[in-house]
Amino acid sequence: MDRKPLLAGNWKMHTNVQEAQQLAASVVQAAAKVSGRDVMIAPPYTALTAVESTISSSGVILGAQNVHWEEKGAFTGEISAAMLKDVGCEMVIIGHSERRHVFGETDQMINKRVTGALRFGLTPVFCIGETLEQREAGRTMTILENQVRAGLDNVALKSGSHLVVAYEPVWAIGTGKTATEAQAQEAHSFIRNLLADIYEKNIAGQIRILYGGSVKPENIDILMQQDDIDGALVGGAALKAESFERIICFQ
Ligand code: PGA
Repeated sequence: MDRKPLLAGNWKMHTNVQEAQQLAASVVQAAAKVSGRDVMIAPPYTALTAVESTISSSGVILGAQNVHWEEKGAFTGEISAAMLKDVGCEMVIIGHSERRHVFGETDQMINKRVTGALRFGLTPVFCIGETLEQREAGRTMTILENQVRAGLDNVALKSGSHLVVAYEPVWAIGTGKTATEAQAQEAHSFIRNLLADIYEKNIAGQIRILYGGSVKPENIDILMQQDDIDGALVGGAALKAESFERIICFQ
């Protein structure tokens, strides 16, 4: 099944407004060099509006780094899907390992965020991944299965295009250690089979599964050659215009 590759940049807690606009402008130029690919950038909340004006009409997709499940209310420090839509976001990263491990987000909270995002028409980029300890204990697939089943519990999908999954082994994020392409493909194929079990096979075939964790110009090509790797969620290398351009222009 044909799935349009998605190259996504997670800027984390980096860039002021001016830096964000400059970086976004370089992403627009890079994205114009390729066709048949989606490019998404997720700046910090403070730069969303400025970046939206830089990328508007370029086809580059605006994403956010988290979302709350309620539309509005007394939730100090949170942002709703309706607010993100209002500033032009189409996608939102949910369940990133930093949210899970640094901020203690549980599968149940992540499930509510996924449901809330979909309710307001935002496409979740739903992140899962095992720690080094879990991998070394041979528990990778069990952990992934638990995260997928809990995170997508009662999440109905009319089309696989409304959901993106990102497999990001925790031990590969920001460490310079990448999963080998074989390790990544093994996990992605396992995730796709699991999605086929939860949804219909044709819906699972439409869901894009991104790899994340130390993706860089040196490894993007081989990763993208794997059958079930449909794109990348990029942290560090997305903050450098040249590196992200090379990733967008993978061969
Ligand atoms: P990294 O981060 O590319 O810097 O490893 C990936 C991520 O956290 O999404």
